[in-house]
Amino acid sequence: MTMQDSPDRDAAVGDAATPRSFPMARRCPYAPPPEYAELRARGPLVRVQVPSGAVIWVVTRHAEAQQVLTDPRISTDTSRPDFPVLGKREHSEYEQVMRTKLHEGSFIDMDAPEHDIYRRMLITEFTVRRINQLRPGIQQTADQLIDDMLAGGASADLVEAFGLPLPSLVICQLLGVPYADREYFQSRTRRMLASSDDPRGAYEAIMEIRDYLDDLVRRATRDPGDNLIGRLLRGPVAAGELSHNALVNMTFLLLVAGHETTANMIPLGVFTLLRNPDQLAGLRADPTGWPGAVEELLRYLSVVDWVAFDRMAIEDVEIGGQLLRAGDGVFVLGASANRDERVFANADELEVGRGARHHVAFGYGIHQCLGQNLARAELEIAYRTLFERIPDLRTDEPDEALSFKYGGGIFGMNSFPVSW
Ligand code: HEM
Repeated sequence: MTMQDSPDRDAAVGDAATPRSFPMARRCPYAPPPEYAELRARGPLVRVQVPSGAVIWVVTRHAEAQQVLTDPRISTDTSRPDFPVLGKREHSEYEQVMRTKLHEGSFIDMDAPEHDIYRRMLITEFTVRRINQLRPGIQQTADQLIDDMLAGGASADLVEAFGLPLPSLVICQLLGVPYADREYFQSRTRRMLASSDDPRGAYEAIMEIRDYLDDLVRRATRDPGDNLIGRLLRGPVAAGELSHNALVNMTFLLLVAGHETTANMIPLGVFTLLRNPDQLAGLRADPTGWPGAVEELLRYLSVVDWVAFDRMAIEDVEIGGQLLRAGDGVFVLGASANRDERVFANADELEVGRGARHHVAFGYGIHQCLGQNLARAELEIAYRTLFERIPDLRTDEPDEALSFKYGGGIFGMNSFPVSW
C-alpha cells in the first residue's frame, strides 16, 4: 500500500477522525504548535494530511520517537522516488541538484550500511577531546564579536551581530577556511539561510558555497593542513576510500547541518533566559549550571522540529500499536516528543536545572547529531560569555514586536534587538 491510498486504512486502525492538516504553525515563541498536545493525547502515532494531499504518520511521544529513529525498517533515504514530501513533488533545480550532485557523501540522507561508512570517517573530528581543543578558538571568536558589538554603541541586532557569525566562523576554523576568505564565506552562508525570503538567491548562494568548498578542497589537496579537510585528505582520500566529490559534499553537509541550527539557538536561548530572570540569576550565581541549562534550552526550544525527521517505512512495521505499511511516510515531531509529560515533568515549563539530556533535540539512533558536542560547546560559550561581559543585556521589545520564523520546520528569530 502506498502513502496515497493509506487514508482508507484509518478506520481499520481505529483513528476514525479526519486527519488534521500538517504542518501546523507555532503561535507562541515559548511553545510548539498548540495542536501537538492534543495529538500527543490522541496517541503516539497519528495520521495527518500534508499539502500534497497525502496522509502520513506523525510521531508525537518520546518513546515511539526513539523507536522510529532506530528501526532499520524505517528509511531516511530521500533519493527514493516515492519518499514523502510535503508539497507536490516539484523537480526544482535545487531538488535536482540535492538528489544528484550533492548526494554522494551526504550521509544524513543515507541508510546503513552506506551511511556508516561516511559517518565513521568523521567520528574522531567530533569527540569531546577534539571539541575541547576547539574551545579556545570558539571563546576568542565570541569575545571578538562582543568587542565589536560594544564598540558599535549600546544596542545591536543579536542575530546579525552574534547568532549568525559565531557558528559560521567556528565552521571556518573546523574546515580550515583561510582568514582572507571568511567574509566571502559568511556573506554566502547568510544569504543561503535567507531561503524563505529569497529562494532563488538561496539556491545561488548554495551553489556558490558548494563551488567554494570544491576549490578549498582542491587547494588543500596540494598542501593538506592540520584541520578536518587535511586529515580526510591524508586518510580516506589518500587510501582511495573517499572521492573528491564526496569529501566536498561532506563539508557542505557540516555547514548546512551545523549553521542554521546553532545560529537559531543562540538568540532564542538569550531571549528565553531574559524572559526567565530568576533562572538567569541562578546561572550567573553558579556558572557550573550552564551545561545543564544548554540541554534544557535545547529541549524547550526544539529548533529542529520535524524537518530533519522525515522518514518512510520500507517494510510493514508495528509501532505504538499502529501498523505502518511499506511506503507510509513517518515524521517525528521532535518538539512534541520533547514536551512529552511521560518523560519530562512540567514539560511546558523551562527548568534549567532539570537534567534534560535525554531530549531528542539532537535526534536519536544512527543519525543522532554528529556535531552535538560542538553545538554544546558553542552554545555554552555563547550564552555564558554574553551574560558575563554584558551584565545589563536586555530587550525592550515586547514579545509581539519580535519577529520569529518557523519556515521549513526550523524555529528561529529573524532579528533580535538588544541593548545594554
Ligand atoms: C543546536 C545545534 C544543532 C541541532 C539542534 C542539531 C540537530 C540535529 C538533528 C536533530 C540531527 C538528526 C537528523 C536525523 O535524524 O536525520 C542532526 C544530525 C546531524 N548534525 Fe546536527 N544539530 C546541531 C548542530 C550541529 C553542528 C554544529 C554540526 C557540525 C558542524 C552538526 C552536524 C550534523 C550532522 C553531520 C548530522 C548528520 C548525522 C548522521 O546522519 O549521521 N549539527 N543534527
